[in-house]
Amino acid sequence: MIMTCFRSVVQVVLFSVLTALATGCKKTTKPQLAAVATLKGTASFPMGTSVVASPLSERPIYQQTVLTEYSSITADYEMKLDIVEPQQGVYNYAPGDFIVGFAAQHHLRMHGHNLIWHQALPSWVLNFQGDTTAWENLFKTHIQSVANHFKGEVASWDVVNEALFDDGTLRNLDHKQGDGTASIWRQHLGADYIARAFTYTHQADPNALLFYNDYGQEWGGPKLDSMVVMLNNFKRRGIPISGVGMQMHIDINVDTAGISNALKRLAATGLLVHISELDISVNPGNIGNLVFTYALQQQQATLYQFIAQSYKANVPSAQRYGITTWEFSDADSWIPNFFNRPDWPLPFDNQYNKKAAYFSLLKGVGN
Ligand code: G3I
Repeated sequence: MIMTCFRSVVQVVLFSVLTALATGCKKTTKPQLAAVATLKGTASFPMGTSVVASPLSERPIYQQTVLTEYSSITADYEMKLDIVEPQQGVYNYAPGDFIVGFAAQHHLRMHGHNLIWHQALPSWVLNFQGDTTAWENLFKTHIQSVANHFKGEVASWDVVNEALFDDGTLRNLDHKQGDGTASIWRQHLGADYIARAFTYTHQADPNALLFYNDYGQEWGGPKLDSMVVMLNNFKRRGIPISGVGMQMHIDINVDTAGISNALKRLAATGLLVHISELDISVNPGNIGNLVFTYALQQQQATLYQFIAQSYKANVPSAQRYGITTWEFSDADSWIPNFFNRPDWPLPFDNQYNKKAAYFSLLKGVGN
């Protein structure tokens, strides 16, 4: 009796196990392919990266990552004056055309960068001899030739880049001030040249959204104050400006309250706000043998997430032009070369693998 009862129990248990196994097997015969989240698929605003024409055309992993993750691109340097107009009146649009063509082919937003900057100037500009009228003509002709060439292909332009010294005064030819890099434009064109650059660009391409782009807004202080005054002044005067770019080349010691404060104050101008060149250095102390430890990776990742969340919290959705990183892989960042140090500022590592920074940025841009 006891044995019969035991056998029945064993049979019931066996039956249940087999049924469960069979059901389980049935489930695995229908594989569920979970879609892998991407930056552009997750954010409710454009996600961008800057790019260089040669890897975009030659390196499959580079091209594939751009196409998978980003909805907006900016050229690192192919639209700047030294490249597009290496000699006066001689234009070299091929590298820029390649990038713009790539954007059009893949339905990416193309952000133009930049028309007027105190750097990336060829010797013909630096050595130009002429009176105020000749300088104005050089300035206007360059802006309108380039804006006209890319008309209908760029959605927007950084019209003027980095026109303010760190102390908030207009960058001019006084090397003693601020970060010491002078502006030949201010010297020859007078203080209101920035406004005229916007007007000239608008005349050439009335549909492009026009941005003033700069760095250091997160420091607060006189630079941010002057910028807000300038932007409000342009709006009051009807200067055709649509947005402001916060480059955000920051490092892991950044004051996060400063980031939120800058986003809030720039959003209060009513203009579009573009985080336009984001990267987060982990080696601001220039340590030659620094190791990118787990702790540093986490610190950087937390900041990437914070920036995305602060952007959503402080910039109304209608004013979010997007978040653009300056390149996307540590392999292609300007920082290690420029500062001659090891650094890992971007969301993808040297082999184009996603870093902790990527996953935190992804989390931050989501809802
Ligand atoms: O001129 C040659 C060109 O003929 C050649 O095809 C190319 C091949 O590598 O090299 C060219 O020189 C390049 C140069 O830009 C052209 O102006 C350099 O390699 C390149 O490293 C250089 O630097 C760029 C820099 O701006 C100056 O334009 C950086 O790639 C770019 O990351 C940097 O970007 C700036 C932003 O525009 C403004 N904010 C700061 C940011 C970082 O400095």
